[in-house]
Formats: sequence, structure tokens, C-alpha cells
Amino acid sequence: MTTDLAAALGVGIPSQLPDLPGCDPAVDRAPRRNAPLSPPERGLALRNALRYFAPDRHPELAPEFAAELAEHGHIYMHRFRPTYPMRMRHPAAYGARSTQAASIMGMIQNNLDPRVAQHPYELVTYGGNGSVFQNWAQYLLTMQYLQRMTDEQTLVLYSGHPLGLFPSHAEAPRVVLTNGMVVPEYTTLDEFDKFNALGVTQYGQMTAGSFMYIGPQGIVHGTTITLLNAGRLYLGTDEDLAGKVFVTSGLGGMSGAQAKAAVIAGAVGVVAEVNPVALRKRHEQGWVQETSDDLDQVLRRIEEARGRGEALSLGYLGNIVDLWERLASDGVHIDLGSDQTSLHNPFGGGYYPAGMSFEAAREAMTADPAGFKEQVHASLRRHVAAVNILSDRGMYFWDYGNAFLVQARDAGADVAGKDAEFRYSSYVEDIMGPICFDYGFGPFRWVCTSCDPEDLAKSDALAAEVIGEQASAAPPEIRRQMLDNKLWIEQADAHDMVVGSQARILYADHAGRRKIAAAFNDAVAAGHISAPIVLGRDHHDVSGTDSPWRETANIRDGSRFLADMAVQNFVGDAMRGATWVSLHNGGGVGWGRVMNGGFGLVLDGSDDAARRAESMLHWDVANGLARRAWARNPGAEFAVGRAMDEDPELTVTLPAHAEDRVVEEALAAAGLDTP
Ligand SMILES: NC(=O)c1ccc[n+]([C@@H]2O[C@H](COP(=O)([O-])OP(=O)(O)OC[C@H]3O[C@@H](n4cnc5c(N)ncnc54)[C@H](O)[C@@H]3O)[C@@H](O)[C@H]2O)c1
Repeated sequence: MTTDLAAALGVGIPSQLPDLPGCDPAVDRAPRRNAPLSPPERGLALRNALRYFAPDRHPELAPEFAAELAEHGHIYMHRFRPTYPMRMRHPAAYGARSTQAASIMGMIQNNLDPRVAQHPYELVTYGGNGSVFQNWAQYLLTMQYLQRMTDEQTLVLYSGHPLGLFPSHAEAPRVVLTNGMVVPEYTTLDEFDKFNALGVTQYGQMTAGSFMYIGPQGIVHGTTITLLNAGRLYLGTDEDLAGKVFVTSGLGGMSGAQAKAAVIAGAVGVVAEVNPVALRKRHEQGWVQETSDDLDQVLRRIEEARGRGEALSLGYLGNIVDLWERLASDGVHIDLGSDQTSLHNPFGGGYYPAGMSFEAAREAMTADPAGFKEQVHASLRRHVAAVNILSDRGMYFWDYGNAFLVQARDAGADVAGKDAEFRYSSYVEDIMGPICFDYGFGPFRWVCTSCDPEDLAKSDALAAEVIGEQASAAPPEIRRQMLDNKLWIEQADAHDMVVGSQARILYADHAGRRKIAAAFNDAVAAGHISAPIVLGRDHHDVSGTDSPWRETANIRDGSRFLADMAVQNFVGDAMRGATWVSLHNGGGVGWGRVMNGGFGLVLDGSDDAARRAESMLHWDVANGLARRAWARNPGAEFAVGRAMDEDPELTVTLPAHAEDRVVEEALAAAGLDTP
């Protein structure tokens, strides 16, 4: 079947220049990027961009691209932005030779869908700078390659740039992609800005640059689990958070999930957001129930909802620092607090300093980068001072994986801990790590490539059946996690969280992921589900990410700064049958601060797909379980023991536990200080 879309994709980069597409004023635009280029480097950036086009087009394109560099700090090649609707379609619509490749094309389009993407014109999916490609030429060429490739080829992408199609074999991944890989010495933020302006690297975040973002639903579930377990661990709550108040910031790509999750958890969630467009988007979507720019009204509403035990999401249009300072000065009791401004990108639009309007901040970040940096630092010091007051009065505050503590420390804010490096913990360190990741539970997800809601409903039912069976036989250590997930999947449709593709997230463990995959593949084979299902996950998982203040924050054998696990995961997934694999520098907490990877796996109902899913998903979780067990994490030792009991082919090196007395006496005898 040749559709108009398929014909357009077959053209790749058009030789006739298309008209400049119009801009919808309602679309949220990325801020100007910092482009610290010397004059020769500006020439290099231009030459780099022109590589995608025949020389006879250069006289027309060069001035246009130079103007983009001057205006936006980056050459996006806006002229080449497609005018067809950007959204995922059934694999048959792409005119591709390979169903696997067609499924990837759908995932790419979903990540650029204006309903899903934060700054769709600048190819940014979430997190302010989480890019799918660096420019529109890369998109066009990649889609053309995917359309024409066979299952005997592999497409290689370097930070969005399609290096080419290379001969491989049917068992190899169809796409191998890396984002932001850099020789470690050259990994400062300034260097990133330079490389990005030159058009040679991009910040892929986690799931943006690997085409696995499924809209904010992806994080709603993780945030709900975090909130419920924070309540259980620190407030003594059991089922839900009725009557408890949670204050945080950010209603952007990922952070928007906080409002929805607060309501699902039964809490009063108050979320500050400085960008009126972001606030409006979440309000229109129904994720934020009420909005206000008046702090008196916000405080009144908090007390009213708290008194009634009402589940509420309230968006405050304003700066989070103003909200925290007012809560502190008025003595309002807050139970749980966090922050999800984009502090992984503090000086490029991720964090808006207090005392400056939103518009003035956008202007200042490129007009006066040094002055702006000082404003950010001053704001962070005020931010932390107010949070500390509320924390002293009993609020439990956590770093939400956005580099809040690291940036606050760099700003000179009072975040030092007594016995630990920081006064507060990361949510993974205290909550998600010991409760979920150590037991193999992580954000497994799937997308129905048919784009048919009925297929999603059928897949939900299959997953609920698997989790239900698992829960009834689960040992006490993991029964709670199973029951939380069972409830989640049973209610998922009612929470109306699908934005863009027909996708679902579910925290499943080692065995659960494989059982669900097998059930889906059987359903596709039987025609019960009408088209292939793409399996994937957030990189924020058991094995996929090495990030010392987030995913690996509860690894305490001194290895949390190392990235062997993420790299091994990428390689291991590739050799066990993933349809595509990705490895990224930066994601969540910022460039240079994390290595993370992920995969996509197409379940087309074939025996091959079933075999690959079984093998790859086994490794994809067992890798992290083994590493966490070696770090002496009790949950992981338990989980890896179960995994070995289930599979005689699995043999994991387990740690011996040294007694404190033996260690201390030996050190003392050697004349060394004891811990
Ligand atoms: N906890 C997790 O699991 C997790 C997952 C993904 C991302 N993250 C991290 O969380 C952060 C947010 O991600 P995102 O995708 O929502 O980013 P985003 O840039 O889409 O949203 C952040 C929002 O914060 C707002 N903001 C910035 N400064 C503010 C201030 N001072 N007061 C009020 N609002 C302010 C921005 O206007 C923006 O809308 C990122 O650093 C990201 O890496 C965490």
C-alpha cells in the first residue's frame, strides 16, 4: 500500500526546497540555545549543516541557516519541517520493507507528535532539551533509510545523525543509536553547548533520543508509587495519602505527571509552574484540576482540601521559590515536598530564578549568561533556605532526579548532610531503589502499533491477568509491589492517560516482564491483537542507568560512579535480540552526570520474537539484579536468588558479608583509622 505519507517519506531530503512552513503560535517554542562558538567554529557549524544538501542549494540555504544560528543558537533547518500531521500510524502506512523498521518509524513520529513533544518544532520531546534529532534533515534521512531498509541491515545513528545503513543479519538490531557520547574529559556544560551548536551532538535525555517516550503517562505510575511509598515510609500512611499535602514544581514534559499522580494517590498536590503555556496545557488536559496565580487563594485551598481529605491538583502560576517562602513564613504544614524544575539544564531554560519575570529570564539567559547564572544560584539558595524551614517542621523532602541537590550545592545553598553528602535523599536512594529496583521492578512499557484503543484494552487485560497470577503466589517481600501494580493496571484506562500512541506503563519484575511479553506475542499471533506490539522501558530502571544521585544512588559499594552496568546492558540487549538499542550520556540529571540506555523490541507474533523477548528481557533485568546483589543490597540478593532458582542457566557471583567487627579489628591492627 502506498500512502501519501509513504511517498513523502520515500523522498527523504527533497532536492527542491520546500516552502517555509508556518508556525502555530500556540506551540511552545524552545528558548534560544547558548552557542559559545568562535568565528571559525560558526563557519564549521554552517558547513556541518550544509553537508546534508547538494552544493547548488547552498547559496540559498547558507544565509538561512546562519540566521537560525544567530537567532536560535542552533540550526534546526526549520524549512524542512514536514507539513503532514506528525503522529504515530499503523506500520502498514509507512511503506516500509521491514515491519520492525516501520514500528520504529511510528515511535519516532510519536516522539515528535505536538500532543506529546514539549517543543515539537525544535525536535524536543521533554526536559527542555531532550531531542529526538538535532535537525529536520536528520529526521527526513532517517525515515527514508528506515523505509527502505531490510531485515539484513542495521541503521546507525550518532546523536541523531544517520551514519548509514550497514549490512548485518536478521538477529541484529535494526537500529543502534548513541546520544552524547563524549571522551570523558570534554564533558562540561560549555562543551556540550559548543558541540550541540556545531551540530555534532545532542542531549537525548532518556527516552526522547531513543524514541521510547510515551507521554507523561510514563512517569505518572512511577510518581504515584513514589508518593504512596514516601507516605508509607515517612508519614505512616497505609493505603493512600488522603489529607496529606505534597508541594513541588514543574508541569512540563515529565514533571506534569506529579499533579496527576498526587490525585491518584489521594493527596493535595500543589505544583508551581512559571510558564503559562505549560500550566494551560496540563489544565486543559485535566491533569491539573485547578489553577491560581494568587498565593492567598492557594493557601486557603490547601487548608480546605486538607480538611476534607479531598484529592486535589492545584497549579500555582508563579515561581516555586515564592510558594515555598510563603508557606514557610505563614507556618503552613506540608507533609511531602520535592522539585522537578529542569535543573539538569540550569542555565539554559531549565530553572527560572525567583525575582525575575518568565520573559526577562528567557532574555537574560543568552543576553547575559554570567549574570543569569548568578541569579539562578541566588534563587537556589533562597529555594533551599525555605525548604529547610519546612523540613525542620516535619516535611519529608526528596531530590526528584533533576540534579536539584547537586546544583544547589554548586550554588552554595545549605544542603550538606551531617553523616551523608546531602541533607536530603534522592527518591531512588530511599524509596524506589530499595522497594522497586532491587527487586527487579521497573517501568516496563508497551505501545500498540495498530494505534487502536481496543488493542490497548486487550493488552491491559492480559497484563492484569499475569500480574494477578503473580501476586497471588508472591512472597511477602514483593507482594505489596505486585498489588500496587495490579491496582494500577486495572485502573489505568479509567485514569485516561493516553496521549499520542496507544501505550501503557507497568512496573513489572524479572518474571513478570517475560510473562507479559509472551502473552502479548501469543495474542498478536492469534490475531486477538491486530498488529505488533513494541515493548520498551524507561531508561530509569533496574539495569539501564548508572546515575550516582538517582538510579544507582542506593549502590553503596563505591561503584555508583561507574558506568559498566549501563554499557553492558546496551551491548547485552543488542546481542539478545532487541529491535533497537540506545546508549546515552546525560538524561534526567544532566550531561556528564549519567550514562543510560534502553531498547525497543517488536513483538510480531512470530516464534523468533517470542525467543528474543525471553532472552533479552531476562538479561535486561538480571544484569542490574546481579550488580545490585554484588553491592550487598538485600532486596537484590533475594531477587537474584529467586531468579537463579527459576533458571539453572543463570549463575551470579554473590557477595560474602564481612562482619563489622572483623573489618574494624583488622584496620585497627594495621594502624589504620576505623570507620
Ligand atoms: N523523577 C523522575 O523520574 C524524572 C523523570 C524524568 C525527568 N526527571 C527530571 O525532572 C526534571 C523535569 O523534567 P520535565 O520533563 O518535566 O522538564 P520540563 O523542562 O518539561 O519541565 C520543567 C518545568 O519546570 C518549570 N520551572 C522551571 N523553573 C521553575 C521555577 N523556578 N518555578 C516554577 N516552575 C519552574 C518550567 O517552566 C518547566 O515547565 C528534569 O530535570 C528531568 O530530567 C525526573
